[in-house]
Amino acid sequence: MKLTSNARFSTICLHAGQEPDPATGAITTPIYQTSTYVQEALGRHKGYEYARTQNPTREALERNIAAIEGGAEGFAFASGMAAIGAVATLLKSGDHVVVSDNTYGGTFRLFDKVLTRSQISFSYVDTADLAATERAFTPATRMLFVETPTNPIMRITDLAGAAALAKRRQARLVVDNTFASPCLQRPIAFGADIVVHSTTKYLNGHSDSIGGVAVAVRQDDREWLRFVQNAEGAILSPFDSWLVLRGTKTLPVRMAQHTANGMALARFLDAHPKVRHVYYPGLTGHPQHALAAKQMSGFGGMLAFELGSLEAARRVLDSVTLIALAESLGGVESLICHPATMTHASVPAERRQALGITDGLVRVSAGIEDIDDLKDDLAQALERA
Ligand SMILES: Cc1ncc(COP(=O)(O)O)c(C=O)c1O
Repeated sequence: MKLTSNARFSTICLHAGQEPDPATGAITTPIYQTSTYVQEALGRHKGYEYARTQNPTREALERNIAAIEGGAEGFAFASGMAAIGAVATLLKSGDHVVVSDNTYGGTFRLFDKVLTRSQISFSYVDTADLAATERAFTPATRMLFVETPTNPIMRITDLAGAAALAKRRQARLVVDNTFASPCLQRPIAFGADIVVHSTTKYLNGHSDSIGGVAVAVRQDDREWLRFVQNAEGAILSPFDSWLVLRGTKTLPVRMAQHTANGMALARFLDAHPKVRHVYYPGLTGHPQHALAAKQMSGFGGMLAFELGSLEAARRVLDSVTLIALAESLGGVESLICHPATMTHASVPAERRQALGITDGLVRVSAGIEDIDDLKDDLAQALERA
């Protein structure tokens, strides 16, 4: 089970960071459910002292995701927000951050309601427009925080262009890669300094764990994130680490099916008379289809569609029977939600309007069910719209 230096992506997902358990040969990394480690003598131990600081199950996951993202080191946290919060500790009072305007509502809430209290300021711009993004920079800008594709409008930011801009302005490029997953997009290859994920989504993939990870490249960032992970203590538990580690083994096969179902649902909805607009980068009508095709190896399982009114959206959401009405995304089961009142409720109404997160917008996370069952469910729900 030794990985060669030219191992391909699926092989890396399955094996990176993991070796047979040294004590028993168990092929699966055990759940080291312990809080501490017995030392052989004063000052003599096996490299493990206390489980907030070191845990073999978490370390296996961190090595695995770092390899999958093509980064140098990974740090696993108790949630995606905890990972973003830890990355934000790279900032100091007086620093400024340029952020994708259509970022996840929880990220906006953290920045707008928590970090501004420490005199860190944020400018929200459409990072799909690199000229506008550059105009938002100030001499105090230390970070460009990009989400691509964005949630739920699926805007795409040019990763190579964003990396070049950040480098030119001596800021870090941080990319939230949750929506695409490293199977479809690897921002570090385009020059990103840090990638963050809510592992709750595609990396775990089975809707049974909350977690987050930050993958860093720069030595100074790695040292700081390791320090903060221990200092703040928002670590991923051994059991959750084990669940995500199991999830990443099947990431490529799951993503292939999510992508196939996402594309098929987007086409089905695009042709439906009750649907006014479909947001999916795989459709040739998407304004950034060519860019998405260039920097992603697939278009993924996330899409949103416009029904024109809250009433129509409500009727569809209340009528689906197979697709579950729930927040979150990226699990094997298909989910449907109403961003304006669910995932993006913390975004002020005027901002939601400006971003296109209307009351008639519905978001779908395409699972890996049989596509005809998903289409049948949406078809019968749309009849009531
Ligand atoms: C793009 C994105 N980033 C970050 C998060 C936050 O992750 P978590 O819910 O694991 O804290 C989410 C959650 O929905 C998300 O969609």
